[in-house]
Amino acid sequence: MINWRGSLLGATTAPLMAAMLATMAYAQDPIVPAPDSGTFHHRVLWIKDPASQAVLSWNTREEGTNNRVYFDRVSRAGDIESYSKSSKSFKTGKYTMREVDHNWVDPAHYHHVHLSDLRPDTVYYVVFATDESVSQEFHFRTAPGDDKDVAVLFGGDSRIGGSDPYDHNDRQKMNRRMSILFEENPDIIAFVHGGDYCQLAEWRYLEPWLSDHELTTTSKGRLLPIIPARGNHDRGVGYVEMFSWPDLGQDYYFETTLSSRVSIITLNTEISLGGDQRDWLDSTLERVRPENRWVVASYHRPSYPSVRTYQDGATRRDNWVDIFEKYTIDLALESHDHALKRTVPIRAGEHDPENGVVYIGDGGLGVPQRNPDPERWYLQEPGLTKPAHHVHVLRFNSETLRGTAYGMDAKILDDFTLTPRKKIPVSSIDQ
Ligand SMILES: [Fe+2]
Repeated sequence: MINWRGSLLGATTAPLMAAMLATMAYAQDPIVPAPDSGTFHHRVLWIKDPASQAVLSWNTREEGTNNRVYFDRVSRAGDIESYSKSSKSFKTGKYTMREVDHNWVDPAHYHHVHLSDLRPDTVYYVVFATDESVSQEFHFRTAPGDDKDVAVLFGGDSRIGGSDPYDHNDRQKMNRRMSILFEENPDIIAFVHGGDYCQLAEWRYLEPWLSDHELTTTSKGRLLPIIPARGNHDRGVGYVEMFSWPDLGQDYYFETTLSSRVSIITLNTEISLGGDQRDWLDSTLERVRPENRWVVASYHRPSYPSVRTYQDGATRRDNWVDIFEKYTIDLALESHDHALKRTVPIRAGEHDPENGVVYIGDGGLGVPQRNPDPERWYLQEPGLTKPAHHVHVLRFNSETLRGTAYGMDAKILDDFTLTPRKKIPVSSIDQ
């Protein structure tokens, strides 16, 4: 049997194998491998202050000795001598993966470069280099430092599953949908992922996830920065190796200042929700709520599930929802249940159209969809739920926060509009 990657590696048999694979292998095994050499899996990570910082990451088969990003504010067409700046990797290593006997392939090496002191709302042209291997030129735009309108993509659960553990066609279709949305809407500046990327502990699943993520890059080479939340399938060290940020540790809860008036709070449902994380959530919302027109929380396991039981959301409701309501956040982004949902505005466990918090989700970036329970009180109109792959575009403007859910075929599955909270002192918004 031809395994999912290894047969491509034989130098003398490569042409023959390539011909065979072209005619039959991918029909059985749809995973298209990353290259055997050079740089690949190029991506941008946003955690803190994306107006001035980013981590640029890539993979290689060999470890390399000089792993570096060259960058500039004008295109240099990949000529590394021409770029005004370069920065060396702060973290390089080999992915720590669980060995699987029947088709083990050595994991790749990761490289992460932290860029700081960037200019806000500025396009940076970059190439990724390991020793003599240099990527094509890509570019990304930093977040605005002012009150400019911004938009993000939001979705979760891009792992594959179902009867065929290698079938990632639906994920690829959703990534292509995201690429089209990103290409057609230049106001989209990032991708908020709600967790469960793949079966992350195994390289045979992580490598195709990283290859598929490259499908979100536009035809002109614009990279889509990812703001990641950690899911229950992302507990291993591979997550820290995939999404590395200096001094972030293992906890992975953080605040991302998307613009001067938009804050994304990413929480981690895979560690203790109380204690330090709850205290951090309280103190962070106390700080960011008065400063921002829009405050959104993103995390994996839902407080108001669409598929799992209501009781299943109790831990999040007990530890976080009272704080969401104390500071009246605008929207909560959830995943994990594998269905489309929007709740009614909720406060104190009841429908509150005036001051409630809306929860959307629940994961549809390629994972097989489940049947939600449409009878639950919090999923009644104007809420909704149904099984459907989906990705949301969230647009943060001065007057509205508009959320639109797109299906795999571009059909609009949901569309809602929120207005700014009246409780926020006007002086703190307009100053
Ligand atoms: Fe999950």
